[in-house]
Amino acid sequence: MAKKLCIKTYGCQMNVYDSGRMADLLAPLGYATTEDAAEADLVILNTCHIREKAGEKVYSDVGRLRNLRAERVAAGGAPLTIAVAGCTAQAEGEEIMRRAPAVDLVVGPQAYHRLPELIARAHRSKGEALDTEFPAESKFDHLPQQSRVEGTAAFLTIQEGCDKFCTFCVVPYTRGAETSRPVAAVLAEAAHLARLGAQEITLLGQNVNAYHGEAPDGGAPWSLGRLAHALADVPGIARIRYTTSHPRDMDDELIAAHGTLPALMPFLHLPVQSGSDRILEAMNRRHTAADYRRLVERLRQARPDLALSSDFIVGFPGESEKEFQATLDLAAEIGFAQAYSFKYSPRPGTPASMMADSLSEEVKSERLARLQAVIADGQRRFNDSCIGRTMPVLFDRPGRHEGQLIGRSPYMQAVHAEVPAALSGRILDVTIESAHPNSLGGRLAADPAEAAA
Ligand code: 5AD
Ligand code: SF4
Repeated sequence: MAKKLCIKTYGCQMNVYDSGRMADLLAPLGYATTEDAAEADLVILNTCHIREKAGEKVYSDVGRLRNLRAERVAAGGAPLTIAVAGCTAQAEGEEIMRRAPAVDLVVGPQAYHRLPELIARAHRSKGEALDTEFPAESKFDHLPQQSRVEGTAAFLTIQEGCDKFCTFCVVPYTRGAETSRPVAAVLAEAAHLARLGAQEITLLGQNVNAYHGEAPDGGAPWSLGRLAHALADVPGIARIRYTTSHPRDMDDELIAAHGTLPALMPFLHLPVQSGSDRILEAMNRRHTAADYRRLVERLRQARPDLALSSDFIVGFPGESEKEFQATLDLAAEIGFAQAYSFKYSPRPGTPASMMADSLSEEVKSERLARLQAVIADGQRRFNDSCIGRTMPVLFDRPGRHEGQLIGRSPYMQAVHAEVPAALSGRILDVTIESAHPNSLGGRLAADPAEAAA
């Protein structure tokens, strides 16, 4: 009998990718996916542990699912299996089993390929189904190929884990040491995704530009720059992106690729976290604000229209008003096309959580609001600067209005324009006519008949 699987995904794109892979893995066992937990036989919470709020979410979610299950069983319905996956599972597996006894199984990000076995074990006897090992075998060798691509864009995880040990961050503990997938496996998956309709591939990794994958010919490991060149030669792949990068790992080859490889999109997420050298040092980022500015300059020399995005943390332990001001200055000066900003959240087991968390919530909130105003201003300026320009847009979904399609600009903006539906899936030149906080509007530079030719 057909069973239903509901996966709720939190956190970063790596989790989005993993959720897709789990669905593909469970499909042959008879699980069809559903968005609605109420009709599911199995719910997987794919959790994020990056900040406290994210980490606590699992407990409220499990509470809701437990009530749902109780109601259903009381009404004579089918039981519901509750699974917790992802980074909180990895970090707090045993505690989840203790604090949330309604959970049937816990599986860490490196053990997803063992899910079928874990589900069977959970059905036999609860309490034994916990797997947060970092197994010797790679899950990638044991997961089936992705079964579908939605629209024209796909994620491809090429690297996992992190050896940087920024003092605020749980990732080295939840995702383990840095590992790269072999070049041949990445190229094969990219070719497979292209056959499924992907034209734009986003290479994923917690520290993606530290990529050093086994070479196909047994030679020295390949860097991300070299991999990007090979991916651009995969038939059907027109656009390549990658995220998330560490400034320290932007090597010469990768910077040069931004200038020489048209398929490498001119949009780069390059977290800086802070503009203060003292705070950067306390975060163990191992670069200064000046290093970051110089790096951006070099990238812009290679690719003058490069748009940048970043992550910031405000209220790191001991951050003074003057140090915060240095962050505001850097954000204003670089002019990010978009950026994410967060209040510092102490995470158990990290070095920064041992430092006195000296700033009040009020100060953190106030600084966050000021930084977000600077970021919003940068985003508005960037979007405004696109007006009048003509840029290639990859259209792949219907717009809000009849006759419209929505696509992505090279700089990750959503762009809507009047485009015949038959041209969905095409990259077309669009002249930008209007800018909004989160999107652009434009018209086809050539008439549709010509564009279709
Ligand atoms: N508190 C607040 N923000 C954090 N990030 C990572 N760890 C923490 C933390 N403990 C932010 C960083 C990172 C992004 C993914 O999340 O900015 O780049
Ligand atoms: Fe969250 Fe980091 Fe895990 Fe992604 S890798 S889900 S951001 S903790």
